[in-house]
Amino acid sequence: MEPDALPKLTRIPRHVAIVMDGNGRWAEKRKQPRLFGHKAGVDSVRDVVETSRELGVEVLTLYAFSSENWKRPENEVSGLMKILKSFLQGELDRMLRNDIRLISIGEREKLPDSVRSVLEKTIKKTSQNSALTLNLALSYGGRVEIAHCVSRIAEACLAGEFSPADIDESLIDKYLYTAGLPDPDLLIRTGGEHRLSNFLLWQASYAEIFFTPVMWPDFRKSDFLQILEEFGSRERRFGKTGAQIRSS
Ligand code: IPE
Ligand code: IPE
Ligand code: MG
Repeated sequence: MEPDALPKLTRIPRHVAIVMDGNGRWAEKRKQPRLFGHKAGVDSVRDVVETSRELGVEVLTLYAFSSENWKRPENEVSGLMKILKSFLQGELDRMLRNDIRLISIGEREKLPDSVRSVLEKTIKKTSQNSALTLNLALSYGGRVEIAHCVSRIAEACLAGEFSPADIDESLIDKYLYTAGLPDPDLLIRTGGEHRLSNFLLWQASYAEIFFTPVMWPDFRKSDFLQILEEFGSRERRFGKTGAQIRSS
């Protein structure tokens, strides 16, 4: 779609985070193996990345694999890792062309070596890009992230870098995987479930949350734009009254 075909949006979120759910059920409904749904989901990823880039979203975080997803059958886990690797290999040129910087959050050390090395290479090769930051949550869990953050803060305290009394919200932000990124303004979950499933527990404290029944492989630009339009009409109060917000 040409940029002039985009609707007039009143407010563009700086950071959009998406729980890409529903691949398995989408495939099962078509009497196909679950991996068929995961493969189809890659097209939706391309669509939201492109749209985010066109609209000027700064950060797009995609929940691709949770720390709990390791509990799935071995063939699904290895199939997902294969898809991830070929996505990274196949998208590098497009990311370079479109000025997209890739980063990741999660327990990178748990990923298979072959995936980790492609991931790290892609991160390095795109590190100078700046139009959009594509942040992949891989082996990511909000609770693991917080535990990891607390442990590093305790170590820094013991090393005398600061004292416990200095620990505040902004210091915690610096020790999370998402250090340096703005908090998500908009969090979308496809696939019809109404839960966070351990996604960005700290960072999403004031995100506007949208749940859509659309399964991830069916999620297209038009679905995304519809949510973005509604996002623009929501009043974000951050604890204040509506009158305070409207008069500011
Ligand atoms: C989300 O789709 C993708 C991953 C968790 C990797 P699911 O695989 O959870 O799909 P459903 O929820 O079973 O339909
Ligand atoms: C959340 O989806 C994780 C990802 C989309 C990567 P799940 O399908 O794993 O979540 P639950 O198990 O239904 O809560
Ligand atoms: Mg699911």
